[in-house]
Amino acid sequence: MKNLIDKKILYIICGGISAYKSLETIRLFKRNGAEIKTILTNSAKEFITPLSVASLSQGKVYSDLFSVENESEMDHIALSRWADVILIAPATANTISKLAQGTSDDLASTVVLASNKEIYLAPAMNVRMWEHQSTKQNLKKLINYGYKLIGPEIGEMACGEYGEGKMTEPDKIFYEINNYFLNLKKNKKLKALVTAGPTIEYIDPVRFITNKSSGKQGYEIAKSLFKKGFNTTLISGPTNLKIDNSIKLIEVETADEMLLETKKNLPADVAVFSAAVADFKINKKYEDKIKKQDSLNLNLKKNVDILSYVSSHNSMRPDLVIGFAAETDNIENNAEKKLNNKNCDWIIANDVSNKKIGFNSDFNEVTIHYSNKNKEKLSYKKKSQISDEIVDRIINQLN
Ligand code: CTP
Repeated sequence: MKNLIDKKILYIICGGISAYKSLETIRLFKRNGAEIKTILTNSAKEFITPLSVASLSQGKVYSDLFSVENESEMDHIALSRWADVILIAPATANTISKLAQGTSDDLASTVVLASNKEIYLAPAMNVRMWEHQSTKQNLKKLINYGYKLIGPEIGEMACGEYGEGKMTEPDKIFYEINNYFLNLKKNKKLKALVTAGPTIEYIDPVRFITNKSSGKQGYEIAKSLFKKGFNTTLISGPTNLKIDNSIKLIEVETADEMLLETKKNLPADVAVFSAAVADFKINKKYEDKIKKQDSLNLNLKKNVDILSYVSSHNSMRPDLVIGFAAETDNIENNAEKKLNNKNCDWIIANDVSNKKIGFNSDFNEVTIHYSNKNKEKLSYKKKSQISDEIVDRIINQLN
């Protein structure tokens, strides 16, 4: 069964005794139709030869960061863009340490640093190295950055010691990567819509009222959905953020524009409403700039609630409707109220009074309130990782 046809795997092999297992892993990928390019670190070449890797992978083997031949044909950036997925196996303690520090002193570490793809690591090292605090800290960092871990396993090691640190067997590595592609294919048919950032409501041509919001959590959710194969549309109020152009980005300013674009871009299988929509707009916007005066009364009226609108219209309601509740107090009660009043399936609540996880932070800590009354806390971590965890739950739910 050649279910990896058209799939491109960049396979990085580091220097460890289990490097020999990479040959079997390559064979499994090739047998299933994948296209493979490999990078051998200098120490990997002490364990296996570039010739055997090239013969089995039927693809180019790269090694040097500063190679005229490679740079003219495919430089390190092109190499990282070429891949659908990057696999590092065996991932040695040294490579893990370099990746955690962001070191880029050879081709492998430079390509990984420049990558915007899913990266899988299959560590292999002596049990004491694996258990060392520095390795643990480095891995924690990499997991926070979104790297996926395969193994290691417990068993007898090449050095004769017994414990955790043995590289996962090729068939299991193959299974993980194959699964990644299978899910990607399944999710590709699914459509996701995300609202993010603040909206602004003009008072006059130069002044507006708005909500505090960086948009970071919503952008990360859109990125995670896309990474997991969803056809993703992001409707965003004004932010300073950038997003990969494979995600359909629709920029809006006001709540009315956000509602209009949301309606235009439905149906979807899942909608995540993370935007901090301004609750009020000016009853009648001033056409000209208001001149300075001692006092000014503004007449405000309520904006339409986009989330409630979508969740209460069966014709457009996605299978899964998720809202956010950014609260400063009484978080649980407010979240439960919003879950019911807005007729959504989940509310993701966070405490924005906490500076470590509040507005503009790269970190968050949230509790998902499910409509079946269950709750689940996703503890303090990077917003990108919180997003991956939310998207894993979305996939489970939709499946
Ligand atoms: N929301 C929306 N449209 C609005 C207001 C809110 O889609 N006009 C969505 C937000 O994107 C979020 C959820 O509703 O997913 C909760 O938003 P929040 O501002 O916390 O709630 P409000 O209903 O505005 O209540 P309050 O400001 O009183 O807490």
